Amino acid sequence: MGQVLVIFAHPAFQRSRVNRALVAAARRTEGVTVHDLYETYPDFLIDVRDEQVLLENHHSVVFQHPFFWYSSPALVKEWLDLVLQYRWAYGEGGTALRGKIMAQAISAGGPEDAYHRGGYNHFSVRELLAPFEQTARLCGMGYAEAFTVHASNQLDDPSLADVAHRYSAWLGSLRDGTLPLWLPPP
Ligand SMILES: Cc1cc2nc3c(=O)[nH]c(=O)nc-3n(C[C@H](O)[C@H](O)[C@H](O)COP(=O)(O)O)c2cc1C
Repeated sequence: MGQVLVIFAHPAFQRSRVNRALVAAARRTEGVTVHDLYETYPDFLIDVRDEQVLLENHHSVVFQHPFFWYSSPALVKEWLDLVLQYRWAYGEGGTALRGKIMAQAISAGGPEDAYHRGGYNHFSVRELLAPFEQTARLCGMGYAEAFTVHASNQLDDPSLADVAHRYSAWLGSLRDGTLPLWLPPP
């Protein structure tokens, strides 16, 4: 079985600075497969079985994307709606993902202190990601602590290089099973 599958989603990759650096770091990390959703499915016509086989062949899956309206770009939602089928991912006989780990790597324009009660985004990133965490739970998966880049549009080059380095280490911990989990698998 492969190890970590990074499902990467950015609808305007040509304008990306942060995710461009993160995805390059992921591609350099041993045991990590990068799958670019917008590159593969520019027309949103997702090949469900291909995606399921990719998941079956990896132990962990990371959704890497910019934070868009406190969630993911639209193709990730389409992917979830189509790929996580009843009787495959959940429900009667739906055990394909049981025991695997889901995680998220998010770049957010907002600073860290905005994501608190009293901050202008009011909720924590974990609270805002609740639909993903609960999706993992329903599919019998664990959900790892997210990798979050804050104030993503204000990073200078050395800070961005440092973030990319930390992302690679974070992926390595996920691969090696040492990353803290917000939700352990059942
Ligand atoms: C449509 C749209 C929605 C966004 N929504 C949020 C948001 O909800 N929270 C946030 O912190 N930043 C938000 N941003 C800022 C992006 O997260 C930020 O531009 C991105 O992380 C930069 O990464 P990149 O260089 O890879 O594009 C939004 C940006 C766009 C274009």
